[in-house]
Amino acid sequence: MDYKNILLDREERVAAITINRPDKLNALNDGVIAEMRAALDELENDREVRVIVITGAGDKAFVAGADIKELSTLNALQGVAKSERGQVLMFHIANMSKPVIMAINGFALGGGCELAMAGDIRIASEKAKFGQPEITLGIIPGYGGTQRLPRLVGKGRAFELLLTGKMITAKEALEIGLVDKVVPHENLMDETKSMAKAIANMAPIASGLIKKCVYYGLETDLKSGCTFESLQFGAVCTTDDMAEGTKAFLEKRKPEFKGK
Ligand code: COA
Repeated sequence: MDYKNILLDREERVAAITINRPDKLNALNDGVIAEMRAALDELENDREVRVIVITGAGDKAFVAGADIKELSTLNALQGVAKSERGQVLMFHIANMSKPVIMAINGFALGGGCELAMAGDIRIASEKAKFGQPEITLGIIPGYGGTQRLPRLVGKGRAFELLLTGKMITAKEALEIGLVDKVVPHENLMDETKSMAKAIANMAPIASGLIKKCVYYGLETDLKSGCTFESLQFGAVCTTDDMAEGTKAFLEKRKPEFKGK
């Protein structure tokens, strides 16, 4: 597919989606949302790709939010539909069988912070800034921000960000658990790709099942989550990769995982 709002690159087994509207600080308009969904579908079906990185074009922004121009004229029904379209994208990321790493290179505000939170792992440049400034526009987050933020950072910290609309630094985001790692700006893509490549060398069916177990478990009680895990454990025991991984260990060599 021909993309106009995003760039799609592949390097070995790692694919990178770059949101490419730097003159609008990569704001999420309908085009970006639709193309990201299509790109994720394309990558899910590409057996060569094992890990996906999402980042923003330019030096300034990861994503500075939903496109405020598009938001400004919405009526109630259009508002619901727009919110749902964004939420479908966010769930799509968790539903991918491949790990998705967010490389947050600058402003991650509003929909940008929501997009970052929808990723499996978040690595931020020390220049990145985070916030849910919707309230300063008289609106509320619509892409899952009121739900994922308290789950990640706790109720009080989430309320502070949601109700004041204030921006925080990458270091503060790390302290509250909103990001997982902060790196020097110039190292962001190298560090992200190096983690992505390490994950890409692991067994892909297992990484997909780990995602399923973690997301299932985050939404349920411990006992049900563990029962779910046992079933996935049974499933992974049927794979060639399981046979290869255990055999390679016993033969003292590196495993060659085929995703079968
Ligand atoms: N939607 C649409 N356009 C946006 C945008 C958004 N969320 N964020 C930035 N832009 C546009 C600006 O309108 C500007 O366009 P223009 O050059 O045509 O006027 C361009 O991106 C550059 O932004 P600018 O505001 O000039 O950059 P800055 O460095 O002065 O400020 C921010 C950076 C991030 C502080 C500021 O752009 C901002 O507050 N953006 C909105 C953040 C927000 O509220 N997001 C939640 C939306 S629900």
